[in-house]
Amino acid sequence: MNFGVIGPGDIGEAIIRKLRDAGYPVKMANSRGPESLKDLATKTGGIPASLEQVVQDVDMLFIVVPQKAIPELPKRLLNKAPKETIVIDVGNYYPFVTAVSMNLKMASRRVSGLRGRSGGPWSKPSTRLPQRH
Ligand SMILES: NC(=O)c1ccc[n+]([C@@H]2O[C@H](COP(=O)([O-])OP(=O)(O)OC[C@H]3O[C@@H](n4cnc5c(N)ncnc54)[C@H](OP(=O)(O)O)[C@@H]3O)[C@@H](O)[C@H]2O)c1
Repeated sequence: MNFGVIGPGDIGEAIIRKLRDAGYPVKMANSRGPESLKDLATKTGGIPASLEQVVQDVDMLFIVVPQKAIPELPKRLLNKAPKETIVIDVGNYYPFVTAVSMNLKMASRRVSGLRGRSGGPWSKPSTRLPQRH
């Protein structure tokens, strides 16, 4: 299987290391481009990619950016992913961490805006919601 990670920060890096240890190739992308990921590639074995490249030819894609960065991702980014790609949205909605006030309907509209024509499976793991919405 081929994997992609958008957001190789603290949590994304841990995912990359686990997948690498299991023997899988993992592409990774951030907002600053592949050049900025050279050191991380040396440390983790992750393959630097652009945002457009990271979604292509992957069986599973992890989105591990802070919630406030979701609207900054290119609209319909997942149009370039295979329809069968499983997308795991790892981000948590913590208003006090992100300093962004976003109601959940708005947040989910923004996440679904990435899907475009890609109607593949979508998963949202272990998110806790500490506030009433
Ligand atoms: N589900 C869970 O159990 C769980 C557990 C822990 C954390 N989380 C969530 O996981 C998310 C990430 O947490 P973290 O601690 O790993 O954060 P982090 O260390 O700050 O890493 C964030 C990553 O996202 C990238 N990024 C930021 N803006 C971006 C953009 N516009 N486009 C592309 N990449 C972007 C950053 O790289 P650049 O800034 O270089 O672009 C960085 O690689 C948060 O939402 C957090 O709440 C979930």
